[in-house]
Amino acid sequence: MPVPSSITTASHKDLDLTLVAGEWPEDVTGEFVVSAPETRPGLPYALFGPGRICRLSLRPGTHGAAADRFAWRSRVVDSPSARLFEAAPEQFVAGPTGYNSPFGVPNQANTAPLPWGDRLFTTWDVGRPVEVDPRSLGFLGEVGHRDSWGEQTLDMGGVLPFFLSSAHPVVDPDRDALWTVKLGLDLASGAQMLHVVYWPGDGTEVKVWPVEGGAVFGGSHTITQTANFLLLADSGNFKTDMGEMAGEPRTVTVDDDAAAYILRKEAILATPPGTPLTPTVTRIAPTAGHFYGRWNDDDGISVIFEHMDRMDLGYRIQSGDLDANGKPVDPDLVGFYNTAMAPSTCSEVVFDPDNGASKVEAVLRDDWTWNLQLSAMDWSSEALRAPTLHHIAYQGFRPGAVSKRAVDNYGDRLDPLPTEDTPGMLVSVHRGSLDVSSRYEYSDTTDHITSPAFAPRDPAAASSQGDPARSSYAGSSPGGHDGYVILPVLSDSGMRVDLFDASRVGDGPVATLATPNAECVPVVLHSAWMPSTDGPAKDRERVSFADELAGHVETLPDELAALARGVAEELQESAG
Ligand SMILES: [Fe+2]
Repeated sequence: MPVPSSITTASHKDLDLTLVAGEWPEDVTGEFVVSAPETRPGLPYALFGPGRICRLSLRPGTHGAAADRFAWRSRVVDSPSARLFEAAPEQFVAGPTGYNSPFGVPNQANTAPLPWGDRLFTTWDVGRPVEVDPRSLGFLGEVGHRDSWGEQTLDMGGVLPFFLSSAHPVVDPDRDALWTVKLGLDLASGAQMLHVVYWPGDGTEVKVWPVEGGAVFGGSHTITQTANFLLLADSGNFKTDMGEMAGEPRTVTVDDDAAAYILRKEAILATPPGTPLTPTVTRIAPTAGHFYGRWNDDDGISVIFEHMDRMDLGYRIQSGDLDANGKPVDPDLVGFYNTAMAPSTCSEVVFDPDNGASKVEAVLRDDWTWNLQLSAMDWSSEALRAPTLHHIAYQGFRPGAVSKRAVDNYGDRLDPLPTEDTPGMLVSVHRGSLDVSSRYEYSDTTDHITSPAFAPRDPAAASSQGDPARSSYAGSSPGGHDGYVILPVLSDSGMRVDLFDASRVGDGPVATLATPNAECVPVVLHSAWMPSTDGPAKDRERVSFADELAGHVETLPDELAALARGVAEELQESAG
């Protein structure tokens, strides 16, 4: 089976990886962090599982590993949600859109790690960003007191507020602040109404503004920024199907394009929170899960889009499904998402912030660009100003992970699909032209390549020898070409981690780590790179669960209220 069964059957654990091929370079440093949803029996859709944060240390002999081993450490994001889940699992009922409980909807924080200086956050689309300690991986706090976020997306009761948000907020290097969104639900139209959320990084309050006419229907998975603007968009690839919610078969499909909204940062901050913001409206096509702005916006808002052509995350593999070739699906893939039904497009687009006019400057789409999954880029502020290479992981076409139900519902909106698996690829493209610089093919289609991250070359040396204003994320030559691409590969033969020279990924891995006894690792989602931190997370004013209980815990039955108060006490004790 090309998609490894172990992505749903393996379990997370600490592992000390060994070097099995190549030579590990001296100038790769720091930590590779990756988010993952735990797979749980009985949960219909694996993407809604409780969050994990895993960390691979890029220097051997650290974090308790032997001198020649590399520490892969994995921990549950032990937030109030996870602790209540642990304390009373029977209270959490699984449905197609995740868990619900009398405590409310758990914040699983299972999708993307977000490093911010020496801090680490983990995010998802259905909750507030969560801060964890980058060394212990322990929970520190959620971003913004629930009251400061304002009205919930939908009041589900309990002590865990329900906020639809973005799995990819951005850190504004000029303001050292976080921008994200909140979505309010308009029950009449089914639209999710956009709000901008701003957090200065300290304190327990976020500021929130509604975006006038800012409606999305498929979530707001990513937001992006330039020096002066935010670009918010309808990700478009996960639409709610009210019929499915009522127990009927899913029939809704994704649109061919989606709305996007441009807002000027200074105008937002000059507006009293709560007052509607007026955006410039534009459209993007095909729908795009991930997109990244170039910092300089003198000549317009320049964005690289990783489109999700005919990628509909609303479909998941279900028991009894036939696959794209009409064969019964692998039962171990039940709960996994339905993979792409067309080659993926990558594009570079420039928007006029005054009128929303857009110009497509470059497009990459070919018969090998299947399942553009995730990418790696240099996130230093230096590289955001002058990006050079962008590294994309294409997982290949997987007929066994496409359901015939989805193919039938899309009908003539699909071109004929390949009948065989196609190889995964790691591909480096030049920013601006999207010309392929280098391409490495994973010829073994049972290799499930996952989220890559870019590690700059020796950033500590670069900062000590050069400009003291250089950011801690910048290597010797920022942009994305000078450093390494780290790529975990999941396989039923055991997980391994390939390390590529970012300037020539086509040469293949320069080094490979593997689990010591061919242990498998289950599905992982986004990854990121961050510098190693010296000590425990700094003391800061953070949101405490105890401070969020008043006015809500009283609505719970006594026994559950006692559990919630117990979790709040535990968290206060662990916070010291
Ligand atoms: Fe994402």
